[in-house]
Amino acid sequence: MVKLGINVDHVATVREARGISEPDPVAAAVLAELGGADGITVHLREDHRHIRERDVRLLKETIKTRLNLELALAPEILDFALEIKPYTATFVPEKREELTTEGGLDVITHRAKLEPVIRKFQDAGIVVSLFIDPDPDQIEVSAEIGAEFIEIHTGRYCDAKSEEELKKEFSLIDLACVTASNLGLRINAGHGLNYRNVVPIAKLPGIEELNIGHSIIAHAVYVGLERAVREMKALIS
Ligand code: PXP
Repeated sequence: MVKLGINVDHVATVREARGISEPDPVAAAVLAELGGADGITVHLREDHRHIRERDVRLLKETIKTRLNLELALAPEILDFALEIKPYTATFVPEKREELTTEGGLDVITHRAKLEPVIRKFQDAGIVVSLFIDPDPDQIEVSAEIGAEFIEIHTGRYCDAKSEEELKKEFSLIDLACVTASNLGLRINAGHGLNYRNVVPIAKLPGIEELNIGHSIIAHAVYVGLERAVREMKALIS
């Protein structure tokens, strides 16, 4: 059964909008687990626009499932991650001006920097995942540099403006799953997935976990987080 990782960043976004202590992403993570989440994901950005170090520490201590920490190759964030030891570290690209993570990590360009970092994280007992576009060359290098997982960026599939574009983007993800499986990589996917577009992705062979944030937190505003997670869980299984 495909697992569901819930990204609670946007609970912290609401908190930061007021600069006070609520809503708390740690409380949200507990409710997400009650709704059936298999893991909790947070992105500790360099600009700390939503998640803070305190959140990551408390999440690590509190949650009963697995913590997946998304991070960029920034020295202070890497040090912090090695101290906290999340279950999984997912490496993502990061630009200060972007609204959200825009494209996949270019593991070909960053190969020399990534390789020793991956090794260091794995030596610390952390599972490493690389958030990449569904591109065969990126997948091949991800395998070469020793990542255990890739997370396929589903953003272009989710943003497709026509049936034709949707089909094209879906077939790229489909092919990416085959390529990754053949290279022995394990596969997660995420970005932009919602209650309307998730099912075909969840059905792809080889996909182990979907990481979903915005659509579930948005739905939770209306129906509550536990129910929002439960509805997504029902869809993907
Ligand atoms: N996976 C990764 C690597 C991400 O950076 C994000 C966004 O933080 C997500 C999944 C979740 O994307 P969304 O909020 O669009 O569901």
